[in-house]
Parts: sequence; structure tokens; C-alpha cells
Amino acid sequence: MNHARITGTGSYLPERILTNQDLERMVETSDTWIRERTGIEQRHIAEKDQLTSDLAEPAARRALEAAGKTPADVDLLIVATTTPDRVFPSTACLLQQKLGIHGSPAFDIQAVCTGFVYALSVAEKFIKTGSARCALVIGAETLSRIVNWQDRSTCVLFADGAGAVVLEASEEPGIISTHIHADGAYESLLTTVKPGPDTDPERLADGTAFIEMRGNEVFKMAVNTLGRIVDETLAAAGMGYQDIDWLVPHQANIRIIQATARKLDLPMDRVVVTVNRHGNTSAASVPLALDTAVRDGRIKRGDKILLEAFGGGFTWGSALIRF
Ligand code: COA
Repeated sequence: MNHARITGTGSYLPERILTNQDLERMVETSDTWIRERTGIEQRHIAEKDQLTSDLAEPAARRALEAAGKTPADVDLLIVATTTPDRVFPSTACLLQQKLGIHGSPAFDIQAVCTGFVYALSVAEKFIKTGSARCALVIGAETLSRIVNWQDRSTCVLFADGAGAVVLEASEEPGIISTHIHADGAYESLLTTVKPGPDTDPERLADGTAFIEMRGNEVFKMAVNTLGRIVDETLAAAGMGYQDIDWLVPHQANIRIIQATARKLDLPMDRVVVTVNRHGNTSAASVPLALDTAVRDGRIKRGDKILLEAFGGGFTWGSALIRF
């Protein structure tokens, strides 16, 4: 059986930056509150005419270039997104067209903030069974379209971006294991609701739904669940905390990230943190953070990396990889 290995990473952030100071002018909040409770200082927001596939395309091209591949080499394309361009065709098919790929399977995965880990887990199985040899796996979001910009408890958190990896068949193990879970019993704690009659349609780019969250309860569940999945992942590999070189966590809140790092007994300089500059980009956050640390030289070939994420559903998952 083949192994699956990440051979290239890429990412893209829209140019427009929304700072905490900008948000102070939009809702009753403060830079101090946002920094202290979340660690976020700024986030990137897509232009009105930029759709999720528009962010995914440059991220995908950069990952392909890093892997030394062209779109013609791709025989599986998966996009993890909560904010597809349209109900259908899938964002993966729309991206496939932009990249000029024809015929190979392309589909979306919807697991909210855990979407990329789900997509990686699925792509790995295609490669291990010989059904694909070169997969493009992307997390891409335009969450700003489903944020209620009048709700200070959520609008300071979420943002836009895209991250991508190329996953190829290999003799050497790359993905050591993946672990994905869900429990729909918690659907109401982090969900989308239809806009009410008082909602200003200008505030909702697509006018269909926006995020509603019971932040405190989500926070506690995220910390506990991520603690458990870290143990599950290491136990499956017969590894201990000391075997991990890098933690690349979902970037929702610096306090959740610090709690997981403490659980792993990992100093924060072995944890990739981008939440301060990117905010919570949902399915894009893990591949964006991974690409950031690969390109700035922190993550090197052979490093053992733990990816983890938690999101609406609830969904949660992890991937242990040798880079
Ligand atoms: N600016 C200023 N005050 C704010 C605020 C904002 N942007 N948002 C909420 N507040 C207020 C609340 O109204 C509340 O005021 P009150 O005490 O007068 O009622 C107070 O701050 C505390 O609110 P609370 O929700 O208890 O704060 P918290 O410490 O739990 O932090 C979150 C809120 C959202 C940052 C935190 O709960 C969180 O990160 N949750 C998980 C989010 C997450 O990870 N979601 C995605 C999972 S993928």
C-alpha cells in the first residue's frame, strides 16, 4: 500500500486588512478586549467580487509550484469550505475549471473549521488505496459573507483566506495517521441562522445566513475535546508528547491554542500561531498556518507535526504527519 506525503504547501490572503481599530468604529468593542480574549489583532477580508474559489486558486497554484507539479498532474481535488461560491456546482468544480483540470474527481467537504483535516483524511485514503497519486487539498473561506457585522461577539473573530497542500503517493510515510469525529448533538452551539427582519441586508454579503455562537460553551468544549484528540492521536502512533516537533492548531483563539500546547507540554515557540494576523479562517486556518511556517523556514522536512481542529457540528479531528 502507498503512503501519502505532503510535497508542497501554498496559501493566499485577500489584500484588505481589517484591524481591531476598524472594528472599534463598527461595533461596541475595543482593541484591548479583542486582544486579551482572543489574541486577534487583524484579519483579512475578501473584496465583494472575490469568491471562495478566487482565494483558493492562488493558494492551489502556490502549493503546486512548491511541489514541482502542474494542474495536469492533479488526479483528485478536494475543497474544504463552509462558504462555497454557490450551492452548486461545488467550489472544487469551479476551482477545477479555473485551474484547467479536466476529468479527475473534484468535490467539496463541509466540516466547518475541521474541514481541512477531514479533507486531508479523505485524500490520504484515496492515495493509500491507489485511487489517486497526486491530490490537491484546499481549505478556503469567505466567512466575512456569513458574519453578522452588527454582532460584536462573533464579528471580531472570523475572516477570509485559503491554504492548500499537494499530497502525493510516496514510498516513505508522510501522513502517519488521521482522526476525525463529529457529534451533531451540539449543532445549536455554533450554527448559522436566517437573518431577522431587522438585519441590514448591506451587512450580509449573500443575505442568506449568518453565524451564531454560544462562545463560552464552545470555548470549553474546544479545550476539552482538543485535549482528548491529542492523546488519541499520539496513542495511535505509539508516540509521546516529546516526539512532536510542531503543533499546527486551528486558529480560533490564542487561549484555546495555549491550553492545547500546555496539554502537550510544548513550549509556545513550537506552536505555529497565526490567529493574531489571520483571525479564524475556519477550514483555511490550518493549511494557512502550515504554509506560513513552511515558508518562513520553521517547519523543515522530516519534522513531526500535529495538526488539529475543532468546529461547528461539532466536528473535530487531527493529523499526525512527518513533513
Ligand atoms: N467586545 C467587547 N465585549 C464583548 C465582545 C466584544 N467583541 N464580545 C462579547 N463581549 C462581552 C460580552 O457581552 C460579555 O459581557 P457581559 O459580561 O456584560 O455579559 C463579556 O464580554 C464576556 O463575554 P463572554 O462570551 O463570556 O467572553 P469570553 O471570555 O467567553 O470570550 C469568545 C468570548 C467568543 C472570545 C470566547 O468565548 C471564544 O473564543 N469562544 C470560542 C470561539 C471559537 O473558538 N469559535 C469557533 C470554534 S471553531
